[in-house]
Parts: sequence; C-alpha cells; structure tokens
Amino acid sequence: MTLAIRALASGDRDALARVIASDATFKADEQAVALELVDAAIAGSPDYEVRVADDGEVRGYVCFGRTPMTERTYDLYWVVVDVAMRGRGMARTLIGAMEDELRARGGGQVRVETSETDGYGSARVLYERLGYPEASRLRDFYAPGDALITYYKAL
Ligand SMILES: CC(C)(COP(=O)(O)OP(=O)(O)OC[C@H]1O[C@@H](n2cnc3c(N)ncnc32)[C@H](O)[C@@H]1OP(=O)(O)O)[C@@H](O)C(=O)NCCC(=O)NCCS
Repeated sequence: MTLAIRALASGDRDALARVIASDATFKADEQAVALELVDAAIAGSPDYEVRVADDGEVRGYVCFGRTPMTERTYDLYWVVVDVAMRGRGMARTLIGAMEDELRARGGGQVRVETSETDGYGSARVLYERLGYPEASRLRDFYAPGDALITYYKAL
C-alpha cells in the first residue's frame, strides 16, 4: 500500500505510543514527553501539530508547531519512525510534507533541537541530509559531554 501523510486522529494514540516504544533508546521520561505532545495535539492545542505516516498501519509521525512569540518560525519537536520501518525514506517524506505545508501558510524557518548522544545519531544525519544547517552547539547542556545542537533551516 502507498504511504500517505495525513492529519492526526484521536484513534492514532495507541499506535503512536507503540511507534515511540519501538525505540529502545528512548528513556521513559522521553517517551512520556513525546506522548504528552501527541495528547496536546489530539486535544486541539494550537501549539502542537502532528502528521502521521500511514501505509495501512501507522508507521511514524512528525510533531511541530509555531514557535511562541515568533511571526513565522516553527519548531520541529519530534520525528519518530517505527524501528522496523526505518531506512525507507519515511522521515524524509514526513518532514518534506511538513515543510510543504509550512511554506504554503507562509512559514519562514524551522528550528530543531537535538542532543549530541549516540542515541540521536540517526536524527543528526537525517537533519543534515534534509538540508538543516547546524546553527549552534551549547556544550554540556544536557549533561557533561552532551551538547544541545540546534539546526535552523530557511524554508
Ligand atoms: C531519525 C529517524 C526519524 C529517521 O527515520 P527514517 O525513516 O529511517 O529516515 P529516512 O529513511 O527518511 O532517511 C532520510 C535520510 O537520512 C539518512 N539517515 C537516516 N537515518 C540514518 C542512519 N541511521 N544512518 C545513516 N543515514 C541515515 C538516510 O540515509 C536518508 O538520506 P538520503 O535520503 O539522502 O539517502 C529514525 O531513525 C527514528 O525514528 N529515530 C528515533 C527517533 C529520533 O531520534 N527522532 C529524532 C529526535 S525527536
């Protein structure tokens, strides 16, 4: 079945919880935060939006939102693909769909924050491959030796 990128439905919550839990490197508190944002989007928060990758089953999602106190800047908060479905271009498709949508509504730029730890290595490669330049690196931010890396892309 072909892959569709679609809006979030409230019935997606369990499937998204499974997608998040499929990654053993996410700690319990990270899983909880990721799901909290999904819940906020389901509840209709204007600050968090979710688009889902669906090929007959929910395989991944991207969560983003307009950055508070900015005119046209967006934060990409999470992108997660089921561990069994990685390496097939799903994250590229999800982020591409998000970018198209943001451009269409006049979005100017996207900020992404991530960590320097090994668990986020795939994410760092992904952002670089998708043309997100590194804008800053705050050393020892999360813990000694674990920087906060910010990527910042003009749309
Ligand atoms: C990061 C993640 C979303 C990538 O999902 P994916 O569907 O496997 O990524 P894609 O197949 O769309 O890859 C897109 C590009 O990134 C590259 N890439 C992604 N993961 C990679 C990896 N582990 N090693 C090397 N390259 C990688 C691909 O080669 C591809 O490049 P190309 O299109 O130029 O050939 C997935 O690994 C994941 O869910 N990780 C855990 C969650 C996470 O860390 N999310 C980000 C922080 S919230």
